[in-house]
Amino acid sequence: TESNQFCNAGIEYGESSCGVSSSSSNILIKGGTVVNAHREEVADVYAKDGIIVAVKPNIKVGDDVTVLDATGKFVMPGGIDPHTHLAFEFMGTETVDDFFSGQAAALAGGTTMHIDFVIPVSGSLTAGFEAYEKKAKKSCMDYGFHMAITKWDEVVSKEVEIMVKEKGINSFKFFLAYKGALMIKDELFLEGLKKCKSLGALAMVHAENGDAVYEGQKRMIELGIFGPEGHALSRPSLLEAEATARAIRLAGFVNTPLYVVHVMSIDAMEEIATARRKGQRVIGEPVVSGLALDESGVWDPDFVTAAKFVMSPPIRASGHDKALQAALSTGILQETCILQLVGTDHCSFNSTQKALGIDDFRNIPNGVNGIEERMHLVWDIMVESGQISVTDYVRITSTECYLTISNYFSARIFNIYPRKGAILPGSDADIIIFNPNSSFEITAKSHHSRSDTNVFEGRRGKGKVEVTIAGGRIVWENDELKVVPGSGKYVEMPPFTYLFNGIDKGDAEYLSSLRAPVKRFKSAD
Ligand code: URP
Ligand code: ZN
Ligand code: ZN
Ligand code: ZN
Repeated sequence: TESNQFCNAGIEYGESSCGVSSSSSNILIKGGTVVNAHREEVADVYAKDGIIVAVKPNIKVGDDVTVLDATGKFVMPGGIDPHTHLAFEFMGTETVDDFFSGQAAALAGGTTMHIDFVIPVSGSLTAGFEAYEKKAKKSCMDYGFHMAITKWDEVVSKEVEIMVKEKGINSFKFFLAYKGALMIKDELFLEGLKKCKSLGALAMVHAENGDAVYEGQKRMIELGIFGPEGHALSRPSLLEAEATARAIRLAGFVNTPLYVVHVMSIDAMEEIATARRKGQRVIGEPVVSGLALDESGVWDPDFVTAAKFVMSPPIRASGHDKALQAALSTGILQETCILQLVGTDHCSFNSTQKALGIDDFRNIPNGVNGIEERMHLVWDIMVESGQISVTDYVRITSTECYLTISNYFSARIFNIYPRKGAILPGSDADIIIFNPNSSFEITAKSHHSRSDTNVFEGRRGKGKVEVTIAGGRIVWENDELKVVPGSGKYVEMPPFTYLFNGIDKGDAEYLSSLRAPVKRFKSAD
């Protein structure tokens, strides 16, 4: 069967849990504590044909309904991972996880939607979109797309418009690093920012100074440092801070919102904090690797171990992790958090692929895993440790909304709330049952990614996703996956999110702040 073709691609799901279609059924989740970003309550949740139809105590249903007991457990919206790279062709190879295996891993970890980055083909957005449509055909959970912009001309400018108006893309990523590959110059960045603003699309940035990184890499090679530690040494946090500051200022100059992906350092985070304090619309996204790990990985004497931690920007020295956690939690009550949501940047390469850089760190494919581990690690690091509440957990892993004092969850960053990120009547039935008294352990042996390594190897913690429901299907239960290739849907994301509210007022203020041009008279002769 078609599903077996996927099962045999190196994923060990076991015959019983593979290719067995569990069609979307009617499900009643009884007695759990239902958590949304705005409140928690003890209630039943009834889902019918993939949609949540009721959330209230003591719901009565007929025998045809599957009943799940969630007494003593949390019933939460499935996670939304805002930053992934599945089937990504990068640095001379392609990630081991594609839109099936990466999503299966996600579902086993309680994530029910992800947003992946479409990479243009020779600069063409249209060709890139078509390529990713194909890659995503075998999806077993819902997904959306951001898109990278790597080149600028009239054609691309028109394509951006088509992507926003017809293809459901509302966010575009600009790479200020990866010189000679994805990197763009400030001139292109400015064109892109203007275009994004005019369409109500969110500009995203990979903030590292690519020219300086290139210089830093040469410096390491000249010093005779060829191993994975050279990766971290060649791109210090000041280069992340420089690019973050520059991107923030250019977005401020154009007066358009900015989303900084994978914020890895205190230095970059502080640039975001300063801008936000001044009222600029900047969103910062830390990733689990940055929150849970430190630089010691790339210093491991074993190459395979060290290379698995190579990602960009690099995982920083101990201390940055704690500061990023604090930036997610401090100010929650005052609604002035510096960072708003957590992604993964899941971009998985196995040890054979990482070995492309055995003699030179510059050839180690950049990327780490996280799509399966994010929900558990964020729970352990942020909730179990007492840094945030359960409602905040839902906000930063799923609802992804920015709190404003006037309107508690006025909107989400990607404009798909409340269809996604909520347990409300009318929301998609993307739900997890989370047992706070159970525990998790992460190992490459037991994970569902196709990679043979895991950067969180051996990590244990409290809490466990016991059931995942995606689109009304029970896809994860009793540690078994029942995933169906092709069952995932593309989620279109409309432009003009709340981040654009009142942008035109800022433009008007700017214009009126310009003094009238000086009237000059020809001097009398
Ligand atoms: O090392 C990383 N982050 N790989 C994925 C590509 C990117 O820059 O997001
Ligand atoms: Zn199978
Ligand atoms: Zn990046
Ligand atoms: Zn990325």
